Amino acid sequence: MCGIIAYTGSRQAAPILLAGLRDLEYRGYDSAGVALLPESGGEPAVAKRRGKIAELDAAIGAKPLPPARTGIGHTRWATHGAPSDANAHPHTGSGSEVVVVHNGIVENYAALRAELSERGHAFESETDTETIAHLLEEALDSGSDLLAAMRETCGRLAGSQAIVALTSREPGVAVGARIGHAGAVVVGYGEGEMLLSSDLAALLPHTRDVAFLADRQLVRIDERGATYATLDGSAAEVEPRTVSLDPASAARGPYETYMLKEIMEQPAALADTIGGLMTVEPARLTLDDLAEARPWLERVERVLLVGMGTSLHAAMVGRWYFEQIARLPADIDNASEFRYREPVLGPETLVVSVSQSGETVDVLEAMNVARASGAPQITICNTPGSQTTRVADGAVHTYAGLERGVASSKTFTTSIAALFALALETARVRGRISDDDLARHVRDLAAMPEIVGRQLESFDAIAKAADRFRATEHILFLGRGPALPIALEGALKMKELSYVHAEGYAAGEMKHGPIALIDPKFPTVALAGQHALRSKIVSNIEQIRARDGEVLAIVTEGDDELIALANEALTVPPVPALLEPLAAIVPLQVLAYATADARGRDIDQPRNLAKTVTVE
Ligand code: F6R
Repeated sequence: MCGIIAYTGSRQAAPILLAGLRDLEYRGYDSAGVALLPESGGEPAVAKRRGKIAELDAAIGAKPLPPARTGIGHTRWATHGAPSDANAHPHTGSGSEVVVVHNGIVENYAALRAELSERGHAFESETDTETIAHLLEEALDSGSDLLAAMRETCGRLAGSQAIVALTSREPGVAVGARIGHAGAVVVGYGEGEMLLSSDLAALLPHTRDVAFLADRQLVRIDERGATYATLDGSAAEVEPRTVSLDPASAARGPYETYMLKEIMEQPAALADTIGGLMTVEPARLTLDDLAEARPWLERVERVLLVGMGTSLHAAMVGRWYFEQIARLPADIDNASEFRYREPVLGPETLVVSVSQSGETVDVLEAMNVARASGAPQITICNTPGSQTTRVADGAVHTYAGLERGVASSKTFTTSIAALFALALETARVRGRISDDDLARHVRDLAAMPEIVGRQLESFDAIAKAADRFRATEHILFLGRGPALPIALEGALKMKELSYVHAEGYAAGEMKHGPIALIDPKFPTVALAGQHALRSKIVSNIEQIRARDGEVLAIVTEGDDELIALANEALTVPPVPALLEPLAAIVPLQVLAYATADARGRDIDQPRNLAKTVTVE
């Protein structure tokens, strides 16, 4: 969950590291730090501060760092030890020759710390990371070079880790390691310079030629290039690839927040994703990264979709697609629940994981369980080269571009579009869809970017409707059928952006308990589009109104009965049933955004959250 950046090359490292940390701040934002190997030689210079990057900037402004062309940086999301200057990374050993930044949890850190203390090591922080610095120090002292020291140290650590280290004994060198699913280590190939990062986002301003470390791989960089090794000591072949992400598209531009930009980008992100997965004239699916997975589409007897958070909600929409379009039994599961349940599955089950980052630890662990059971796997992912795309037998890529707001928006809608395409492909391969129906579905999906764009033209009017939530502390979101995942996602967006308590519920469940909450101070957002079993939702709204509850309904344009019945209504254009989620989520994203904005929340970096959850 933390962000890592390392640079070595001909330019001054500090500005590159600090800019990188700003690009990574969405990964974690409770403290930040950098360490540089001074050009004049000597021990690494370290600056670190609790708080956002601005605090670190101020500290460096007050006490400038020496000129240096090699350095590392880190932005932290605390696991062991509260956010503080001492607990911020980088960490050093007993001496100051080695510096380390880290993402992950050293599960045996208490035992290691006791053992190291007995040998005379003194600790300055409460972090697990500091044990890594001390172990590296011991290995260097026993004569190993930094790469060997990293290998030996990794052999002592329990749990998943992404680590980058420097030592003043090897100027111009940085070493990185990945064990398990603590997050990516991406190697950036520049002109006469090399970088390492936890994220593509921090590398894109410098290069698009990148390589991802696989599990149990190490990398050593200097300004001339990279050498790779495995934890068991052999050399590894890792080829860089050129990613097509455009660094300019990652900029915030004129928008107040990344999240606002990303909500507004949805029509373009959808158009790019749909364009990458199909052609409309002639209607043809072009999912060309399914590789070994395609034959399985014909053989499997059921589909299981897994994900977390917003991606799980996209998976819930996908379940409808597999059932309705491909007529395959489909189910969904929370990846973190699935992995510990000893699930019963084998080659008859296609496991579809949904993960925009491709690095969420719960999803990766669920994929390991699926692999061990012999289940074929396809991942829906927005990050080319990420771990889910390596583990799965095939991938359906979304082309949403980088998403920097911690709360997902455009990757939700594009994941839904990708799931629709995968369900169509499954139906085609299994002979469950006629050419005419395929062409109709493709045309319907291709029309959605424009419809979502029309929805967004009403941004200000939707935001105004959020006025009714100005004083509220609880909101119920109700939906049925394909609108249920949208109710859940609307509630999640409301919680994480505005910190208002919001519950998403299946509307049919309301009478079985939640209705007890209804009073004039507990408003309901009801998803009441034409396809959400409208007549049933009408009854639910009547029941709420009869108990003096306020209802903000999301209804189809022209649905005068519901417009009259609700206290307020926001409209969605009429669209085919299965695609209504793409249109209906837009007002809920905007409502959450406007509610958070009115309360002065930090929309791009909500408290306690981090984008890409790489710890359990
Ligand atoms: C919420 C949100 C999270 C992510 C979840 C999974 O707005 O963004 O719930 O959806 O952490 O992340 P990925 O899709 O990267 O696996």
